[in-house]
Amino acid sequence: MCGIIGIIDLSGDVSERLFKGLKLLEYRGYDSAGMAVIDDNRLHVVKDRGRIDEIHEKYDFLTLKGNIGIAHTRWATHGAPDKVNAHPHIDCMGSIAVVHNGIIENFMDLKTELMEQGHRFRSRTDTEVIAHLFEEYLKNEADVETAFVKTLRKLDGAYALAVLTVKEPQKIFCARVDSPLVLGVEGEKVYCSSDIPSLLPFTNKIVPLEDGEYAVLTPGNIMIKRISDGSPVRRAFKELDMGIDEAKKDGYPHYMLKEIYEQPYSIRYALGIQRNYLELMADFIDRSSRLYIVAAGTSYHAGVVGSYIFSRLARIPGLPVIASEFVSRYGDSISVEDSILAISQSGETRDVLWAVEQAKIRGATILAVVNVLASTLTRISRIYLHQQSGPEIGVAATKTYTGQLAVLYKIGFTLARKRGKLGQDEMDRFVDELNKVPEVVEILLKRCDHDMRKLANEIKDSKYVIFLGRGVNTATAYEGRLKLMEISYIPSLAYPAGENKHGPISLIERGIPVIGLVQDDETKKLMISNLHEVRSRGAKTYVISSIDDNDIREVSDVLIKVPQVSAIFTPIVYAIPLQLLAYYTSVLRGLDPDKPRNLAKSVTVI
Ligand code: M6R
Repeated sequence: MCGIIGIIDLSGDVSERLFKGLKLLEYRGYDSAGMAVIDDNRLHVVKDRGRIDEIHEKYDFLTLKGNIGIAHTRWATHGAPDKVNAHPHIDCMGSIAVVHNGIIENFMDLKTELMEQGHRFRSRTDTEVIAHLFEEYLKNEADVETAFVKTLRKLDGAYALAVLTVKEPQKIFCARVDSPLVLGVEGEKVYCSSDIPSLLPFTNKIVPLEDGEYAVLTPGNIMIKRISDGSPVRRAFKELDMGIDEAKKDGYPHYMLKEIYEQPYSIRYALGIQRNYLELMADFIDRSSRLYIVAAGTSYHAGVVGSYIFSRLARIPGLPVIASEFVSRYGDSISVEDSILAISQSGETRDVLWAVEQAKIRGATILAVVNVLASTLTRISRIYLHQQSGPEIGVAATKTYTGQLAVLYKIGFTLARKRGKLGQDEMDRFVDELNKVPEVVEILLKRCDHDMRKLANEIKDSKYVIFLGRGVNTATAYEGRLKLMEISYIPSLAYPAGENKHGPISLIERGIPVIGLVQDDETKKLMISNLHEVRSRGAKTYVISSIDDNDIREVSDVLIKVPQVSAIFTPIVYAIPLQLLAYYTSVLRGLDPDKPRNLAKSVTVI
């Protein structure tokens, strides 16, 4: 996730406003930043690695003169966080500048073609292809807007873009596909930005750009059209009545809810992970004798799901281990033949780092899935995959959990292909379905919000809550329990439903809520009979499932029906209602879900 902003202001230099807006976007990424303005028909660019203030101190953004400009704050995806990879990116002639948030999935193919046509690339980013592609189209196309649209139509992936060209020095061209972009106007001044808060110091007249649209900004005017057919879009500006703090949450009352609702995007970003890194990671896993999946808290639950995925898809056993237990349990048996797959959102969890350091001393290969780039874990691992969920501010992990799962599916499929463990048809069907998961999540969010609010109201005063799952959703039960417990403080239990009869069933009494997760696989029948066991002893059963048949209905006091997906993908889909349940329960109990007591976002102590 990155932040972009563009401004046209004929009454003065834009650099001061760009700088102010950029600072408000810094939460979206902060490993490098840059600004480009057009002055006297020439582009002037300042960029470097580091935080915005550090770069400002070094170069002083305000020395840039000009009435039109764009700026960027980066959270690296393709290419290390250094000066050459910082945005804006320019074409060969230095006459086009591009800032971008998102991932261009086909950039390698485009780059190869453009290099064959003689374009010289400076960076390792996916973004730079946009500048060169636009340059290429402008060679034969007199109309700049047409060249811009042709450029957009060649791009696959997600993007929010703002582009300057000296050919039309009073225009900003921008576009959006699966990455946010809003437009603003204030008299003759016009704006585009990744979010509303960064525009609120200047204007409250805002209009969102929707997916599949582009806009041409000129002084005092904004024209919106569809990318696919160039048809014009008429959309009225809204006059917003909200402060920056409220707007930072995109109008949501808490970061947690905002982050839950970001999942269609964040999962898509995670699925866009670069193939070459996946291949490398899969090579290491494939070569090792044993694979340990090491993590803490929510990331451990992702690891448990990962162990099912690797076994089901690639026939590879991966042993999930809670990081703080790893050294005492396996320290003595780790060897040079083993790989550790560490999963950590922050990349700074001390328990995880300790386990990894100890395994490294014993010669094991360290692999990682992380969200925070340049974190300690990225530095000590041999290969890491960046899940690209963007900063998560709520203490409870939500979008980063489903992002981790998305990356684990990608690793699973890469391993399966390498080891020839899935038939081509099955592979194609699964991969196709995985790519549709972001859409499913979008539908699900709309569908289940109301139900989960209602359910929260029913359980909010419960003495305790029990979560049951089997197979791939055992971990979803653990995760549902952790979410509810950490932000609502209601004691909660979760265990594989088969364990019920070995003890926990004694806790069942009249009215105790049991949340059951049922997927359509070999565990379905057993899970249903476990739900019968608790229901016949007085528990109230709330069942989350994509199955809707008589067996399920018979065992559910309340059935929360979610969209149909193959059983293997249900951990993503079933986690989302549980996140909403925890959120609404916390709010109904008068608590702040973003800041649960005694907890920190990143736990850097042992
Ligand atoms: O940054 P990490 O993923 O390593 O953090 C691990 C846990 O501290 C974390 O997942 C924690 O359990 C969550 N905040 C729970 O929502």
